Amino acid sequence: MKTMNLLTLTVAAGSLLALTSVAQAGVVGSPHDFHAASWNSDPTDPATVCSVCHTPHHADPNAGPLWNRTVATSGFIMYKDHAPAENIKSTPSTQPTGVSLACLSCHDGQTAINAYGGSAGTSGNTITNSANLTRDLSHSHPISLTYDSALVGTGPTQNKWLYPPDTTPVLQPDSGTFVAGNDMTIKGFLLGKNNRLECNSCHDVHNQEGTPYSLGSNPKLVKINGTQAGVGSLLCRSCHNK
Ligand code: HEC
Ligand code: HEC
Ligand code: HEC
Ligand code: HEC
Repeated sequence: MKTMNLLTLTVAAGSLLALTSVAQAGVVGSPHDFHAASWNSDPTDPATVCSVCHTPHHADPNAGPLWNRTVATSGFIMYKDHAPAENIKSTPSTQPTGVSLACLSCHDGQTAINAYGGSAGTSGNTITNSANLTRDLSHSHPISLTYDSALVGTGPTQNKWLYPPDTTPVLQPDSGTFVAGNDMTIKGFLLGKNNRLECNSCHDVHNQEGTPYSLGSNPKLVKINGTQAGVGSLLCRSCHNK
């Protein structure tokens, strides 16, 4: 009971005190905490937090880091397959790549959530609510593309309404919950060293970088959330000059 009271206080103070928000971050207690799931019974580490997704050995090197899950690499419909081609100046991969494959190993609504550690999982144990993005990604923001300085400009294969990613800092939420010392450019905070736009450009699955998960203010694990000076869409406006 005492612990619960403390937790409530932490959440309430989170918006005022940056350090408190960092303390409540992490996978445990977030939507990706499966330690209490009935299917989570890894014999080497029961009720595990990390091994649903990662393993120290025998990992799949093509998806997320030290990836421990069965990954589907084909059968996806991409945004570009439907959008008017002239609007998209980048060249997205024909199928999802990298970390997006890792996320879609659950969010495709087809792969069993408990297909990990070499197990094929239980048929039908899939995401069924709105978090099921399906394999038709034409309904989702484009992913698996390179967004570097060459994409930005007025040339025929350039987009003039994007900010230069290597030098433009992202918009920060009012509460200032970012971890000190992070590279806060679009590249550093959203894209990573290969300038790739993937699912983790916008989301933090570990509930740690950027704005932490909160059922009230940030239920979708979005990296940059808030209403700086009363105006929202901070994530979108960090990249798009719109
Ligand atoms: C639901 C799946 C999932 C769970 C559970 C999970 N991770 Fe991850 N992890 C990922 C994905 C996807 C990436 C790559 C994208 C990213 O870095 O956000 C990643 C990246 C990482 C990285 C490398 C990137 C970095 O931050 O430097 C480390 C280290 C890591 N995870 C550790 C952990 C640990 C420790 C746990 C358990 C406390 C854990 N993860 C739980 C999915 C997960
Ligand atoms: C081990 C399977 C698994 C992996 C891997 C995984 N997720 Fe999830 N994720 C889930 C489940 C299950 C939920 C909870 C769905 C629900 O609301 O019932 C969830 C919830 C979410 C939510 C919140 C949805 C909501 O409605 O509140 C987001 C956003 C999300 N995941 C994004 C990601 C991203 C991005 C990645 C990769 C970096 C990822 N997930 C990797 C299983 C996974
Ligand atoms: C350009 C930014 C961006 C990218 C890239 C992105 N998302 Fe999201 N995603 C968002 C935002 C913003 C929301 C919250 C939307 C809302 O609340 O209406 C969201 C919501 C979600 C949800 C909850 C959907 C729901 O209706 O409950 C899931 C699950 C999710 N994203 C997973 C993913 C996965 C998996 C990928 C990669 C295939 C991905 N996202 C790529 C920005 C992004
Ligand atoms: C990390 C940077 C980044 C973030 C964050 C981001 N976008 Fe994008 N967005 C891009 C890039 C890059 C493209 C592809 C542009 C191209 O190929 O010309 C794109 C494409 C789009 C398109 C497709 C345009 C078309 O012509 O079909 C729309 C619409 C869009 N973004 C809206 C949003 C919204 C809304 C958000 C916030 C939820 C958002 N974006 C967040 C970088 C970003």
